[in-house]
Amino acid sequence: MAETILRGRLLTFLREPQMPEDDSAHLYIEDGALLIEGGLIKARGTFEHVQAEASSEAIIKDHRPHLLVPGLIDTHLHFPQVQVIASWGAQLLDWLENYTFPAEARYADPEHCATMAARFFDEIIANGTTTTVAYCSSHKSSADAYFAEAERRNMRVIGGKVLMDRNAPEGVRDTPQSGYDDSKALIATWHGKGRAHYAITPRFAITSTPAQMESAQALAAEHPDCYIQTHLDENHAEIEQTMALYPDAPDYLGIYEQYGLLRANALLGHCIHMQTREIDILIETDARPVFCPTSNLFLGSGLFDYEGLRARGATCAIATDIGGGTSYSMLRTLHEGYKALATRDDTKMHPLRAFYWATLGNALALGLEDRIGTLDVGSEADIVVLDSAATSAMALRMETCQSLSEELFILQIMSDDRSVAETYVAGVPMKK
Ligand code: GUN
Ligand code: ZN
Repeated sequence: MAETILRGRLLTFLREPQMPEDDSAHLYIEDGALLIEGGLIKARGTFEHVQAEASSEAIIKDHRPHLLVPGLIDTHLHFPQVQVIASWGAQLLDWLENYTFPAEARYADPEHCATMAARFFDEIIANGTTTTVAYCSSHKSSADAYFAEAERRNMRVIGGKVLMDRNAPEGVRDTPQSGYDDSKALIATWHGKGRAHYAITPRFAITSTPAQMESAQALAAEHPDCYIQTHLDENHAEIEQTMALYPDAPDYLGIYEQYGLLRANALLGHCIHMQTREIDILIETDARPVFCPTSNLFLGSGLFDYEGLRARGATCAIATDIGGGTSYSMLRTLHEGYKALATRDDTKMHPLRAFYWATLGNALALGLEDRIGTLDVGSEADIVVLDSAATSAMALRMETCQSLSEELFILQIMSDDRSVAETYVAGVPMKK
């Protein structure tokens, strides 16, 4: 099998860095290299060491002076919202009604799904993201297109068709039975096929009747190794409507609790306005809150209590939430996350922790840390090559850069897809 050596400055995390600065939680090799074979990382170390391990035919790709870091992981976004980004002026419920549902209705057409899936993954790859956790539309065809396109690119992805049988226009509604049947068929086709995983996806409690929640519960019980994804406590009007629809529930999270949807592989988008009991249940069930900073600010939803949830022991993920979110870039997301946290308290997001979060941190939140999120030997070779001087403004700032942390912060605050020099998926360069 052909071997490739990637040469560059290696950065990978061993665990979560402590604040404010913890140099022992990462591995950095100035003249580093990775040996890749069969889509996996076979050796790692200094270039000299890796070259000695490789066969004499190994192809060398020299990315110096750029950084080689694990491919970025986006734990919550909406594939059919690629044309919803930058829709003006509404908070969550109006935004869904006026922009999102009409856009998602077009995904009844398999041709539209296929075209958009290709364009979606082009953007994802261009931004250095190698794993996405996506909501598709309620149409089975949208999930088929998402998984087929990811398979074509050999990407490790998670996704699911939205379950949504009320409080939405007819063109985007399913029924408890059709939602169950389509999810079952998608799981049978895609879950565990190549690098794909299925996520059972009740959109949120407002758009599912109790009968549909029961079918989501059945799916979750029948497929304990499938992920579950939904939204929680994003917006005040949303919470009010939810509680009116489920008057017997103790709180919003209590609805998902009642229907058996909380476990370690359940991802809960937003989790902004949580009550004490909800946090207790979140911790007890080990469900994973997902911080979506660009979306939380864009839709005026509120501020995520990262420190509070962390202090309770929650495993928090971070994500773009396209198209409530405003950028495909996880770097831009870390930038906005820094600002969002800076408004809450003075524990600002340190760049080491930021880069940890978008790589190993998110991999841990997905339980996939043995496959993605690091540059460890045996890991899948999903790698992004970052250029810290990609723009003239960045190059100017880099002239006074003194440390790795400072360089990472320049990337976090000043960069976007322009800094992504290459994205490797299972060892193959994919950026157009
Ligand atoms: N809650 C239910 N659906 C959605 C969605 O598509 N985006 C966001 N941000 N929140 C939601
Ligand atoms: Zn969302």
